[in-house]
Amino acid sequence: MTHPPARVLITGGQGQVGRALARLLGRTPHEAPGPRELDVTESGTVDAAIGRFAPDVVVHAAALTDTARCEREPELAHRVNAAGAENVARACAAAGARLVAISTNEVFDGERRAPYGEDDATHPLNAYGESKAAGERLVAAAHPGAMIVRTSWVYGAGGANFVAKALAAARSGGPLRMVTDEVASPTCADDLAAAILALVNARAAGGVYHLANDGEASRHEWACEILRLAGIGARVDATTTAELRAAGYAGPRKPPYSALANERARALGVTLRPWREALAAYLQRTRVAADG
Ligand SMILES: NC(=O)c1ccc[n+]([C@@H]2O[C@H](COP(=O)([O-])OP(=O)(O)OC[C@H]3O[C@@H](n4cnc5c(N)ncnc54)[C@H](OP(=O)(O)O)[C@@H]3O)[C@@H](O)[C@H]2O)c1
Repeated sequence: MTHPPARVLITGGQGQVGRALARLLGRTPHEAPGPRELDVTESGTVDAAIGRFAPDVVVHAAALTDTARCEREPELAHRVNAAGAENVARACAAAGARLVAISTNEVFDGERRAPYGEDDATHPLNAYGESKAAGERLVAAAHPGAMIVRTSWVYGAGGANFVAKALAAARSGGPLRMVTDEVASPTCADDLAAAILALVNARAAGGVYHLANDGEASRHEWACEILRLAGIGARVDATTTAELRAAGYAGPRKPPYSALANERARALGVTLRPWREALAAYLQRTRVAADG
């Protein structure tokens, strides 16, 4: 990072992406409040926090990311992921702060079989995706200069993410059962954080950007690669969404294919490495941290 922005406020500062950003910013003046210090559903609190800290850039990483809970509580999902994002966007516009608002691959329905570009039509299949797509629209209306960054299948240190769950399940004996018909782009939170700051430093214009590690994988391929890299010999059985549903799984509908093409960022020279490379580096770092 050559020219870090002078002052950065991160909402959702204790989440996977928030923590990765805060780590990367290091000594650059920044604040990374969690939901207790800065609840994005409270517009007065948001205005006050942004007014007090006077950030040059806000990265809005706070969200209700539990998709099953969003399905059960769609009003809460809307309050946090749509109205909350709008609160942040309005406050940034009023304070003259730049904004990066994080969104998701789950705004797409997954009918394509080639990576989604930034201009592809959104059509969410679940309440989480609905709330995030509404958030995108509200952010763009309240702050036309905002960058809306869609990413996918994020894992980072300390998060209750797919990588941690697959490792825990395999270590407790396995076998794992993973679907082959849900495909997206696994993305390391540290790589995403670096790419977000690179976009900020490039003074990218407002609009939608996709930032995901390069390439795509099914849940089954992803789990196999996690265990291979971690040196764990547990079996990973392949299944399908239809088989899981027939066996009683009742979770939210997911896009069958939602890999992202980072077209706009690449045009600005901001690229992310292939997902396998990022995963190998992440597992190596976390192993070193655990051993150290
Ligand atoms: N995780 C993924 O696979 C994924 C994929 C695509 C896009 N994204 C997007 O990437 C962004 C960051 O996600 P993440 O992976 O870092 O998720 P995360 O680890 O769940 O972090 C989100 C943070 O937001 C906080 N939060 C929830 N409600 C809040 C509120 N009302 N006010 C303030 N903070 C609140 C959460 O706190 P609590 O935990 O205490 O509730 C959590 O610390 C989100 O916009 C998400 O939609 C994530």
